[in-house]
Amino acid sequence: MNPLPTSSVIGILGGGQLGRYLVIASHHLGYRCVVLDPDPDCPAGQVGAELIVSDYDDEQALDQMAAKVAVATYEFENVPVPSVQRIQAHGVEVRPGLKALSVSQNRIQEKTLCLGLGIPTAPFAAVSEYQDLIVALGHIGFPLMVKTATGGYDGKGQRVVRDAQVVESVWNQLGAGTHPLIVEGWVDFAAEVSIVVARARDGEIEYFPLVENQHVEGILDVTVAPAQVGAGIAAKAKEYAGALAAALELVGILAVEFFVTRDGRLLVNEMAPRPHNSGHYTMEACAVSQFEEMIRAVAGLPLANPKLLYPAAMVNLLGDLWQGRSESPAFDKALALSGAHLYLYGKTEPRVGRKMGHLTVIEGSADQAARTALRARRLMVAKDGGDAG
Ligand SMILES: Nc1ncnc2c1ncn2[C@@H]1O[C@H](COP(=O)(O)OP(=O)(O)O)[C@@H](O)[C@H]1O
Ligand SMILES: [Mg+2]
Repeated sequence: MNPLPTSSVIGILGGGQLGRYLVIASHHLGYRCVVLDPDPDCPAGQVGAELIVSDYDDEQALDQMAAKVAVATYEFENVPVPSVQRIQAHGVEVRPGLKALSVSQNRIQEKTLCLGLGIPTAPFAAVSEYQDLIVALGHIGFPLMVKTATGGYDGKGQRVVRDAQVVESVWNQLGAGTHPLIVEGWVDFAAEVSIVVARARDGEIEYFPLVENQHVEGILDVTVAPAQVGAGIAAKAKEYAGALAAALELVGILAVEFFVTRDGRLLVNEMAPRPHNSGHYTMEACAVSQFEEMIRAVAGLPLANPKLLYPAAMVNLLGDLWQGRSESPAFDKALALSGAHLYLYGKTEPRVGRKMGHLTVIEGSADQAARTALRARRLMVAKDGGDAG
């Protein structure tokens, strides 16, 4: 198949911030977009895409989208598989593909795929009955993590279990067997790292740099590029992510999250076949952004070499920053710092824990970028307008 002709229409399921920057990247390349999202004021609907306002399982709306687009993609992995099949039934390809979607929807399938490829993960067990949970506890030992197998994000749907006393309450909190769970050994990690890889239709793979992530309460807080890890870890991350992308027959991009253990092992945590929060820094710091690279793959265009041009750091701007203030955070103070770039997603309700935007700093070194990015975020909300340094 030839590359998607200019002015073709790309369908995007999901209109959050990832969809927003996919739309903008599509426009750069001369394409148009139709976005399907339940929210009439969603971030991707504000930047010049045609918006279909509907639920993700509304068959009429899916048919409507399929009739308008040459190819389709999704910006989050919890799009129902039957919705993607419905679009495909119209002869419209949906990339990165059905296998990537179904595997990445389910933590058990993700880890089972890794196991089959010889890629290390934390020890895990699938749990559907209370008794399975008790057996898994015996094998894996405390502390451990119990997660819903599907539907979790930003730390939602997961609990740490430190001792036997809380097992029953965690079982009840996570649905008491109404849906499958996964038990994972607790990883006492030295660092969390992630990588975005892109895979073209012909199987060509390009690798974005490995980056280091810090999470707060299960939500990404800071990304630093490049990760300050040895060459051996960075090479393994590429090898594992490339193998996963190929096994998923992916056409698009795949983000893979890893733990680096204190004894220097690299374990896969989870993966997502879409742009990733830890890849936002690529918009300034790499020779191509994760969004453009994804659209290139989806459109059948050649991939770009996504090499790192500048060390960078990204901090998320959650709704928390808006709390207890009568006005928005002082973005001008942050932007006065050299190398700082601000992205706001156009969301009007700054709820606690909600991703409202992010700020990226490009600098001479990764450490300096991280310091400046954190300082920028502090300056936005400093009470006296001052700076504690
Ligand atoms: N098995 C584990 N051991 C230690 N920390 C974990 C484990 N699983 C998850 N975490 C922590 O919780 C964060 C969110 O978990 P993750 O599985 O990535 O789910 P989500 O889909 O919410 O991102 C991880 O980035 C990590 O900081
Ligand atoms: Mg995660």
